[in-house]
Formats: sequence, C-alpha cells, structure tokens
Amino acid sequence: MKKRILTGDRPTGPLHLGHYVGSLKQRVELQHTYETYVLIADVQALTDHFEDPEQVSKNVFEVALDYLAVGINPLETAIVVQSAVPEIAELTVFYMNLVTVGRLRQNPTVKTEIKEKGFGKMLPLGFFSYPVSQAADITAFQADCVPVGADQAPMIEQTRDIVKRFNGLYGKTLVEPHILLSKFPRLPGTDGSVKMSKSLRNVINLSDSADVVKKKVTAMYTDPTRLRATDLGHVKGNPVFTYLDAFDFNTELVDDLKKRYRKGMVGDVEVKDRLIEVLNVFLEPIRKRREAYAQNPKKVLHILKEGTERGRMLARDTVSKVKRAMGIDYF
Ligand code: TRP
Repeated sequence: MKKRILTGDRPTGPLHLGHYVGSLKQRVELQHTYETYVLIADVQALTDHFEDPEQVSKNVFEVALDYLAVGINPLETAIVVQSAVPEIAELTVFYMNLVTVGRLRQNPTVKTEIKEKGFGKMLPLGFFSYPVSQAADITAFQADCVPVGADQAPMIEQTRDIVKRFNGLYGKTLVEPHILLSKFPRLPGTDGSVKMSKSLRNVINLSDSADVVKKKVTAMYTDPTRLRATDLGHVKGNPVFTYLDAFDFNTELVDDLKKRYRKGMVGDVEVKDRLIEVLNVFLEPIRKRREAYAQNPKKVLHILKEGTERGRMLARDTVSKVKRAMGIDYF
C-alpha cells in the first residue's frame, strides 16, 4: 500500500516563491509516489485572523488556484478544506487532555509567532493551542509522513508525543507520523531578510505578473557594501544569487556571474536582468494554468469538494477508531 502524506498551508494570502521552494515543489514531486492530501488550513488561519475572517475565506480559493497552478494534480492529490472536516475539531478536543500547557509554552515556532504578532496578554487560547489541532490534522488523515520545512518540526514532534500518549493509554490506534524535511533551505525575502513572508512585504507571489516581478527584482536588496559595479561583490547572503541558485537551470552561467560579481566585473543590473528572465520563464506556465482554472471556478469548487470528501472519509474512520479505543462508542 502507498504511504500517505499530509501537508497544509494557512490561507491568509497568495502563495509565494518561498512556499514553492520550501514545500510546493516537493509536494508536486511526491504526489506520484505517495497518497497525498493537502490541507487548506482555514481553521488554523482563523486563530490569528478571527477578527477578519474574510481575509481567510477569500484566500481559500486563491490558495487552491496556486496549488493547481504549480502542478498539484487533483487526480493524485486530495485538496481538503479544513473547516469542512469537523472530525478534526473533534479529535482536537480529545487531544487537549494529552498535552500540558507547559509543553505548549515551549513550542519554539509558536513562541516566535506570538512575539511577532505582539499578542501580549491578549494571547488567544486558540492560537496558543494550534499545535494540538495540527496534530489532529495529521492524525485524522492517518499520515505516515509530513513533508515540511524546519519551522514545522516542533509541530510534528508534538504530534508524535500525542500519538504515543494516546496509543499508550488506549491501545495502538493512531499512526505515528514522520517528518520529511524539505531539502531546500529557506528562501530569503527580496529585502534580504532571512525569510520570505507576506507580513514582511518582501515576497514574490506565484501569481505576480511579469511587470510586478520586474519591479520587485529591480528593487531587490543585493550587496550593501557594493557602491559601484567595479567594487568587489559578495555573493553569499545576496538574495539575488540565492534566487538564481534556486531557479536558474543554467548553473554555468550563474557560476560565471558569481565569479564576475566577486571580481567587480558585472553590475547588479545584468544579474537582476538574468533573474527577471529566469523567474518569468518559470512563472509563465504557472500563470497560464492559474488563469485557466480561475476562468472555471465551478471546476475548482468541484475539485475542492471532491478532495474534501475523500479526506473526510479518512477522518471519519479515525474518529470512529479513536472513540472505540476510548470506550465512548455508545451507539
Ligand atoms: N502550520 C502550517 C504552516 O503554518 C500549516 C499546516 C496546518 C500544516 N496543518 C498542517 C502543515 C498539517 C502540515 C501538516 O505552514
């Protein structure tokens, strides 16, 4: 039997190149060998967007378009809408008993996010405890593997702890998931900061037009120590070169640009022009596919509905096994 994978994204905006490098690329490749489920995690997104739910709901469709545009094949991958699988919420409630507040407080990813979002004393319980609901996501679909970036590792650890605790208390019921760590390092932002992130406004979206890509790349951060094209340049930590490494198939050309850059024999403009060309060649077929699906919203909704139904069958099966194990399957 094929092993099963589950991944997901919070629909709070369009997906960008960072998503692609960090996980979408891997998912598109893995879907042929694994039974794949991709979760549009709108319930998780609401934990920090509950005051503006439209920000989430309007992006569910956009994220679906991004998935389809990059080559997630709905015949191979079930795209599941989280809020339409109430079994996940049910599992979350049971798992809450198996996790301590102290353990949740130690989650480094959530800790960082709490700081970034500046919740202070107004930290919502739903946000604080979202790793528990993510454990419900992963176990609901009985996933063997979760292919994600390093920032998600604490969530998989938390899930494994819950699974071990559950199975220890009630008998072997839940599947213990493994992390499949993304091979690709995180993509920096166009401003040179360590990550590409919508909230930092340093992203290139998969749906950006050729003109927007050109504008964003032209304004990109390069080597701040270099004032003239003849100054010796730094390639390391220069996001323009990091992007070329990630997207340019012509490694010889990139190596030559790097050599000349270090020697002060090429200007930023030439390097950026190459990147603009490479990114637009990469994005053009993605834009075309996105547009084709966008023209046919009925078809997209059908794909989501069908994927969600497929996911829900698994989640129902998990809940019934969980209830049986706990002895609360009364009827
Ligand atoms: N927390 C993930 C993120 O912020 C999104 C997510 C929700 C997820 N549920 C998941 C990822 C289950 C993997 C598996 O990107």
